[in-house]
Amino acid sequence: MGQDSRKPGGNETPSSPQPPIRDPPYAEYLYDIYRTRVMADQLPIVTTDPYLLEEQARKVMAKEVAATGDGRDAIPPRPAAFGYIAGGAGAGTTMAANRRALDSWALVPRMMRTGRRLPKTGTEGTEGTDAATAALRDLRVRLFGGPGRGPPVDLSSPVVMAPVGVQCAYHPDREVGVAAACAELGVPFSISTASSSSIEEIKASLDGTSVEDSAGSPSPAPWYQLYWPQDDTITASLLQRARAAGARVLLVTVDTFTIAWRPTDLDAGYLPFLTTNEGNAIGFNDPVFRKKLAESGEGEGEGEGEPTTPENSPLAAALGWTSEVFPRRGRPWSDIAILRKLWGDDGAILIKGIQHPDDALLARQHGADGVVVSNHGGRQVDGAVGSLEMLPEVVAAVREAEAREARETESIGAQPFTILFDSGIRTGSDIIKALCLGAQAVLVGRPVMYGLGIAGREGAKHTMAGLLADLDQTMNLIGCSSIADLGPHMLRKSGAPFKAAL
Ligand SMILES: Cc1cc2nc3c(=O)[nH]c(=O)nc-3n(C[C@H](O)[C@H](O)[C@H](O)COP(=O)(O)O)c2cc1C
Repeated sequence: MGQDSRKPGGNETPSSPQPPIRDPPYAEYLYDIYRTRVMADQLPIVTTDPYLLEEQARKVMAKEVAATGDGRDAIPPRPAAFGYIAGGAGAGTTMAANRRALDSWALVPRMMRTGRRLPKTGTEGTEGTDAATAALRDLRVRLFGGPGRGPPVDLSSPVVMAPVGVQCAYHPDREVGVAAACAELGVPFSISTASSSSIEEIKASLDGTSVEDSAGSPSPAPWYQLYWPQDDTITASLLQRARAAGARVLLVTVDTFTIAWRPTDLDAGYLPFLTTNEGNAIGFNDPVFRKKLAESGEGEGEGEGEPTTPENSPLAAALGWTSEVFPRRGRPWSDIAILRKLWGDDGAILIKGIQHPDDALLARQHGADGVVVSNHGGRQVDGAVGSLEMLPEVVAAVREAEAREARETESIGAQPFTILFDSGIRTGSDIIKALCLGAQAVLVGRPVMYGLGIAGREGAKHTMAGLLADLDQTMNLIGCSSIADLGPHMLRKSGAPFKAAL
């Protein structure tokens, strides 16, 4: 399962300091909720029940939110934006398959294993006594860091905020609020190319944030997600801006070169980029796109000879931008070389939207550093396989190829290819199952967007904090004190006979 790559300190590359083991643990949020009830008579602002979350968002987003005394404007009802989050491709069968795939596995908890000393980490302040570490889990993971790829990327937990576009439609707190909320929890925020905040605004919202742990650790750098423009000069500009914002991980989304048949949005006539001009902020702020638009002669300048701008010709600009980033046809594998050149050797490139093991192998052959096993949350292809169903096959294909190459070249210690997972993650147990099946981290999407829609930045933070608390508490309850403890031995296929290892 290539587990060594997941063990903190298991990587040979010299590294920058790892974040400390989370203290107080993420699980403390559970007790915070009860404390708030007792001390302030307040219940959680957003439901903690993963199955009620969507319904709560549907109800809240259908109504106007009144202006508040502290100067917040009223928020109009936004049912179409709720539909944009909740909807999927076609009849929604891939969304259902995503859940079925996760539910088809069951955790097999181990008992009386707590109180074990955490693995030696070499990080100051984490090698305490058994008593000092018994209450903590080491949820840290290390990604990348292979030869020639710069230092590894260390995370406080195996959770990354998925790239999600158009966040201003769900709540005025939009990306800048969610990014800051994630940063406070030590979770990297992925900046979508379809953001309604610019890369620079998001970077500014992260400046000055730190992780709410006892060490006040610096917050993680953002990741950048690319919807790949047709024009390489625009791509170069976007990637250069992302690097300037501190991003070292590039998610290249290859399953959404055009928007799928999505009945919820079709029935509402809602395609935010065009119908409400939302989700275009990164393009509209891009100097190279603006220059190209100005030279295009599309739209109408205010006066004679005025160049076309997103400000004076929003529809022409939206059409120009969407035709760049949703060009209706994909790229060949060989084009990854273009991105490598633009992103640099010291940055990591992950191909997002992989389901077939052969596509993972192709990504590897063409120089990517990893893949995200994802079907875009069932938003692109209806009637497709559940994402988790494909994870074990992708992991096996990649790890076998790595082992074969190592034998052939008699090399050891080559950096394993990174495999992340998303589509359907709703609970701590879901995260653990994906990790047991070989994912090194997961991306979380819809739940946090429902939290945002219900209660803005605070709602998004509550939902992410709840998921991390559930993960941490469940790790404790199944007898696992670090990510390295996880593997297929902790799972059984629901209903299948379980093989004891003792
Ligand atoms: C409303 C919405 C917008 C999304 N926008 C993007 C995007 O801009 N770029 C991208 O790569 N993925 C996007 N995704 C897909 C997510 O990154 C992720 O793959 C998906 O949410 C996982 O499914 P889940 O949320 O059901 O777990 C979006 C998902 C949703 C729900």
